[in-house]
Amino acid sequence: MASRTTLVFGGTSGIGLATARQLAARGETVHVAGRSAERVASVRVEAPELSAHVADGTDHAAVAALAEGVAPIDALVITISSSAGNGPLAELDLAELRKGFDEKVLGMLTVMQAALPHLSPDASITLVGAISAHTAMPGTAGIGAINAAVEALVRPLSIELAPRRVNAVSPGLVDTPWWNALPAETRDAYFSAAEAALPVGHVSTADEVGEAVVLLATNSSMTGTVVPVDGGVRFVQL
Ligand SMILES: NC(=O)c1ccc[n+]([C@@H]2O[C@H](COP(=O)([O-])OP(=O)(O)OC[C@H]3O[C@@H](n4cnc5c(N)ncnc54)[C@H](OP(=O)(O)O)[C@@H]3O)[C@@H](O)[C@H]2O)c1
Repeated sequence: MASRTTLVFGGTSGIGLATARQLAARGETVHVAGRSAERVASVRVEAPELSAHVADGTDHAAVAALAEGVAPIDALVITISSSAGNGPLAELDLAELRKGFDEKVLGMLTVMQAALPHLSPDASITLVGAISAHTAMPGTAGIGAINAAVEALVRPLSIELAPRRVNAVSPGLVDTPWWNALPAETRDAYFSAAEAALPVGHVSTADEVGEAVVLLATNSSMTGTVVPVDGGVRFVQL
């Protein structure tokens, strides 16, 4: 049987990279894309089983060119991120929030639209949202709205694009470079407090979330679903 082809947009770090490596270990041909040439170069060294490309998911023409070059795509995984839009309402920078929507929601729509002509007839699309769409953590109204918008894409597209499948995972706290914007001590203190509160007793790893992405990307009966992989954070108050 011919090898399946996966394209992971946002696959040069964190959850996307972990997912890509797991899919490659299953024998799939896996392409990853990110904006930073430095990260792409590092993936080429650290994970030579992957084909790494520089491309910005908000650039329709760049996504279309990459998708055409690697087509047909059997699984499209989109883990592009933004931390813009975080913070309490009274201080929320609305221009930053708009940027967050542009980077994550419009970014995911751009990748899907540009790649659509290059998907195989039974392809899967798997998005990565965030559990902030469901929790009640102060300071997350903005990013919660962004991730609720990501989840809202799943059900209509699972019908509109059928028989292609469309799903999402909804992670909680995951130990990835996404947190590098915070000073290390602040991040470590937050993770320690989270570990004490989380039902599973640990902050998620990128591999744990990647396992759920792989399931959604490969299980031919799953569509229109959003799977929480959050260590139970939605049941506690951080
Ligand atoms: N880490 C967490 O605790 C957590 C929790 C809940 C949800 N999530 C969500 O999980 C997803 C993945 O996050 P992560 O933790 O794996 O973060 P990460 O380690 O920072 O990885 C993000 C990846 O997306 C790429 N990317 C970002 N914007 C892009 C764009 N416009 N075009 C192409 N690639 C782009 C990054 O590469 P470049 O920067 O080089 O482009 C990188 O490869 C995000 O949607 C995030 O919101 C994360």
